[in-house]
Amino acid sequence: MANIEPQAVEHLLDAAFGPDRFGRTAYRLREGAAAIPALSFALVEDGMLVGTIQCWPVALRTADGAAHPLVMVGPVAVRPDVQRGGHGRALMTHMLEAAEANADGALMMIGDPEYYGRFFGFTADATGAWDLPGPFEKRRLLARAVNGHALPVNAGMIGPR
Ligand SMILES: CC(C)(COP(=O)(O)OP(=O)(O)OC[C@H]1O[C@@H](n2cnc3c(N)ncnc32)[C@H](O)[C@@H]1OP(=O)(O)O)[C@@H](O)C(=O)NCCC(=O)NCCS
Repeated sequence: MANIEPQAVEHLLDAAFGPDRFGRTAYRLREGAAAIPALSFALVEDGMLVGTIQCWPVALRTADGAAHPLVMVGPVAVRPDVQRGGHGRALMTHMLEAAEANADGALMMIGDPEYYGRFFGFTADATGAWDLPGPFEKRRLLARAVNGHALPVNAGMIGPR
């Protein structure tokens, strides 16, 4: 792991998601938060940033006022010219290993079930009663137990911790 300029990460995210990425619902979930250092990684080849993964502390708040801590995974991004070369998988695998040891809540993310289910065990099975502070497709709200943290199936709203 190398020391990466924050600006280089921002540039890569612009390239992977487009500069309108800040309007995405995922950004509202982590407003004011800092990425979790133990679960956020950069992939560097020949001194160049080729991929990045960041995780964020969020919580599911239920009607009774309880807050269930969760870890939001994403963005996961690989530089467009080197996509589909296994870098995304390497980043996710590395993060999941760290999460099995360190995560303080189950994992959630907004992503394609075709990718995150097939390779990494994320499903929408537990998230049917979860809500987000912005538009989202229910089939893309995914979650996965980790490090002994089961998935809360209660109805509630996800937001920053
Ligand atoms: C999604 C992303 C992180 C995957 O990383 P990658 O290095 O390109 O992908 P990998 O090489 O690790 O995995 C490739 C495999 O995943 C599949 N795959 C990649 N993106 C997929 C998607 N959105 N849906 C379904 N399958 C997908 C590929 O078909 C390939 O499968 P194969 O090996 O059977 O051909 C990367 O393409 C990316 O940055 N995309 C733009 C940003 C984005 O959408 N991020 C995810 C949302 S947080």
